[in-house]
Amino acid sequence: MTSITVRKPDDFHNHLRQGEMMTHLVKETAKVFARTNVMPNTLPPIRNAEDLTKYHEELKAVGTDLEFLMTFKVMPETSPEMIPALKAAGAVAGKLYPLGVTTHSEDGVADIEALFPTFQAMLEEDLVLCLHGEVPGEDALKREEAFLPKLQAIHKNFPQLRIVLEHASSKAAVEAVKSMGDSISASVTVHHLVLTIEDVQDSAGSIHHPHHLCMPICKTDADRKALQEVVFSGHHKFFLGTDSAPHSREKKEAGHPPAGIYTTPVALPVLTELFEEAGKLDQLEAFTSQFGADFYQIPLNDSQIELVKESWIVSEEMFGVVPFRAGEQLSWKIS
Ligand code: DOR
Ligand code: ZN
Repeated sequence: MTSITVRKPDDFHNHLRQGEMMTHLVKETAKVFARTNVMPNTLPPIRNAEDLTKYHEELKAVGTDLEFLMTFKVMPETSPEMIPALKAAGAVAGKLYPLGVTTHSEDGVADIEALFPTFQAMLEEDLVLCLHGEVPGEDALKREEAFLPKLQAIHKNFPQLRIVLEHASSKAAVEAVKSMGDSISASVTVHHLVLTIEDVQDSAGSIHHPHHLCMPICKTDADRKALQEVVFSGHHKFFLGTDSAPHSREKKEAGHPPAGIYTTPVALPVLTELFEEAGKLDQLEAFTSQFGADFYQIPLNDSQIELVKESWIVSEEMFGVVPFRAGEQLSWKIS
């Protein structure tokens, strides 16, 4: 096959940051995606309807045709009373970060049950709950698995509440999401389908590739296989959310690298290569452009995007950020 055309994808998990960086990221995202969820872990975070509207205006002012699916941060102080205004401001989802689990989560949630009244309000407003599903403090490879009982507990209390376990990264998570009701789904990143822990750190636990460090950390070969299998099988509960999360080269390479991998510019070519190698190109479009929209109950995109089989070399650096696969040759290119 020398070319493939798919419905234009949506990214259901993307960090668009702020300021000058935001402008670059919006433009790059618009080249690949029709719509994108926008993560709320800015500084300060997107906490209320006013923050959300202001951020949305800034994103639109970049002047692309990318559509923004806005989210707010579910924090200890996010009260049920705040939810109707957030919905009215255009929010599609609230994102919950457990306390101290990742970048900018110092204001995260320690007591999830205390937020049950807020989840009830989100259910009544038909908002999606997006979860960073990790328990901080556990061994990095086990943090996600340790969170799954909490996911089960929320689902048991709110069986109708639509929940996305963001960036599913383990076999345990794949099995848990499959076993629960249809209100539970998972987003899957490109990097968790490609990397394992060995691509990030050596056997002594020291990080040898800071640009591969993300939260949740990429795990074992068995975990990666479980993710690949469920995605290649065309399972409707698993859809693309890149968690593209750029940090400057300077910060990434200065020791104690922040977590996050910038994947937007290579996401679709890398996925096409992966699906092709697995003989599953026929499942690509559903993963990138259908299952997520169905879960979010939004119409499928009308436009299309074409990839051609033509090798190209990924930039070493873009606006001070080292993208995923920098300097490497990829075999599919967006035409
Ligand atoms: O790797 C990550 N980077 N994981 C997150 O949860 C946050 C993100 C970021 O904002 O940099
Ligand atoms: Zn993220």
